[in-house]
Amino acid sequence: MAKKIKLLNKYAVVTGASKGLGYEYCKELLKKGYNIIGVARNASNLNNLKTEFVGQKIIAWNFDLSVFENNVELIKKCQDYDTEIFINNAGYGVWGFFTQSDVDQEMNMIELNIKSLHYLTKKMIIKFDEQGYGRVINVGSMAAFTPGPVFASYYASKAYVFSLGLAINTELKKTKSKARVLTVCPGPLKTDFWNRSSNQKEAKYKSTIKVMSTSTYAKKSLNTALKTNKKDYIVTGLTNKLVKKITKWAPLSITLSSVYKYQKNRK
Ligand SMILES: NC(=O)c1ccc[n+]([C@@H]2O[C@H](COP(=O)([O-])OP(=O)(O)OC[C@H]3O[C@@H](n4cnc5c(N)ncnc54)[C@H](OP(=O)(O)O)[C@@H]3O)[C@@H](O)[C@H]2O)c1
Repeated sequence: MAKKIKLLNKYAVVTGASKGLGYEYCKELLKKGYNIIGVARNASNLNNLKTEFVGQKIIAWNFDLSVFENNVELIKKCQDYDTEIFINNAGYGVWGFFTQSDVDQEMNMIELNIKSLHYLTKKMIIKFDEQGYGRVINVGSMAAFTPGPVFASYYASKAYVFSLGLAINTELKKTKSKARVLTVCPGPLKTDFWNRSSNQKEAKYKSTIKVMSTSTYAKKSLNTALKTNKKDYIVTGLTNKLVKKITKWAPLSITLSSVYKYQKNRK
């Protein structure tokens, strides 16, 4: 028999909610009793969850968050809901040698991965700080821990997410705020991320690194992000923890060569 869900009467907002990690975060949040507002350029997939989570509100909003004004509109619309969690998950990358990759795609990626996330984090954390509860969860990446030859702008964008989140969370803790910004750092996941990032429609997923299932990753990282008061960022899974240690202690030149080799051979 399905476990009875204790309804919380609070909302969680998830960007990039139509598939992949964002969709799995929505499912986990619904299991925890939250109502959901899911955002994507086409968020209609979320309606599939309505049959499974009958007593909960599932709201799907279509916004292209790489267009700045849509972020302003999103924040305005969120004011009408008692929001406790805001997950900045929407994101993608532009794979390829920097001299060859498409600059328009890179600018669009920067609008989404950096500018949208920055604005939404600021607006929501001010609200959470004032109301005395709430968490922003920003989806970074293991890519935050090193520069990424052959995927340069994506790695750099995730380094921004990591740096911003840790600095804000330190301010919140030092000023005894009840609000938190947690940065989660997934390793490779089997989603549509790679297809979009490598401009392939039906690309076969290719990684030499062991991959955790997206639902397991969502569950584990969310549980930690909602529980911890001390942590600033979350690395989940043994392989990811090991890679994090290696990038910390190995000479940068070796890390750069390894990432170059790994990324160059992916397509
Ligand atoms: N998969 C990995 O290996 C991996 C590893 C580390 C970190 N991450 C990070 O995890 C996050 C989620 O990625 P994923 O793997 O789940 O990729 P995904 O399957 O491609 O999902 C991306 C989600 O973002 C939405 N999205 C894309 N562009 C958008 C835009 N301009 N405005 C609003 N929503 C947009 C997509 O929906 P629409 O297409 O309908 O807009 C979709 O819901 C990203 O931040 C990614 O960088 C992924």
